[in-house]
Amino acid sequence: AAAEKGGYDWFMLKEIAEQPRAVADTLLGRLSETGQLVLDEVRLSDQDLRDIDKVFVVACGTAYHAGLIAKYAIEHWTRIPVEVEVASEFRYRDPVLDRSTLVIVISQSGETMDTLMALRHAKEQKARVLAICNANGSTIPRESDAVLYTHAGPEVAVASTKGFLTQVVACYLVGLFLAQVRGIKYEDEVAAIVEDLRGLPEQVARVLEQMEPVRALGRSLADAGTILFLGRHVGFPVALEGALKLKELAYIHAEGFAAGELKHGPIALIEEGTPVVVVVPSPRSRESVHGKVVSNIQEVRARGARTIVIAEEGDEDVVPYADHIIRVPRTPTLLAPVVTTVPLQVLACEIADTRGYDVDQPRNLAKSVTVE
Ligand code: G6P
Repeated sequence: AAAEKGGYDWFMLKEIAEQPRAVADTLLGRLSETGQLVLDEVRLSDQDLRDIDKVFVVACGTAYHAGLIAKYAIEHWTRIPVEVEVASEFRYRDPVLDRSTLVIVISQSGETMDTLMALRHAKEQKARVLAICNANGSTIPRESDAVLYTHAGPEVAVASTKGFLTQVVACYLVGLFLAQVRGIKYEDEVAAIVEDLRGLPEQVARVLEQMEPVRALGRSLADAGTILFLGRHVGFPVALEGALKLKELAYIHAEGFAAGELKHGPIALIEEGTPVVVVVPSPRSRESVHGKVVSNIQEVRARGARTIVIAEEGDEDVVPYADHIIRVPRTPTLLAPVVTTVPLQVLACEIADTRGYDVDQPRNLAKSVTVE
């Protein structure tokens, strides 16, 4: 078993370390030299893709968080409205769908029962279904009209890591592909983003090189009773994912919030010493969301929070208010989740390990939920 884990204590650590490679494999062969997206495997005609007037993204758990990120990217690049919903809700209501709706189902295993049933629900209403999936030949891609495989390789640890990162990257590919097929006006931006995608494996590798202080931080947080996560824009789903990882692995109460909601409740939870992890947007992001998040850090700290700040290299504005800073490389705003999620995975893993839990097989959870 030790050999299977490639020298790591846990499959999860091995899978975290495999992320640069996994992301590279998701991109492999799908970006042309000239900056075009090549997704021949998406067997939907250009006409069908042009006719799409609405997108639903449907998934469970961590894959749902990838879907939340997809919404920001797809709407920005394509101007098509995107709704994101957990499969267990979608399947039991009457979502408004027709043949010009694209339903993107995201599932690492391709076997999650609720996601499969949501897919069937969508097909009954003639929507086009595109699966983003890791497990080759599994049920969900078999029943979908088209599939984009993430090629992350087998994921063994129950908590998804490389599965998630590659789902996010696959969502970017789908969004950019839709923009390309539909001849969207952002051509320059799309071409620039394609270049940035190529750089992601290297960026993730750089984050991984700097994880020792994050592990030490994790050990110091092992006795926390609750940990809060804040983010804005694409940092919000990252905050949700950071909180989910902590619940799954460390059995610590954790919640993710949109930082802008702080004053509508969450701030009341903060006591002296409450750890608050803040995912800070790039200082170059639009409409001063960066400044707003810096104010949020200041606000929670003034109430006694121990602030753990994930910020871009060179972002000095956060320094006065951060008890701990975790640095990530510069990325375009929409791609940031690929780097900002990684320290949160490492943190949850280290906290769980310090508490003496089985990181790969957390209590009460299954890798693939094939029953309701
Ligand atoms: C389970 C796993 C999660 C995963 C979710 C969705 O809850 O423990 O890690 O995110 O299922 O799985 P899927 O295979 O559909 O992505």
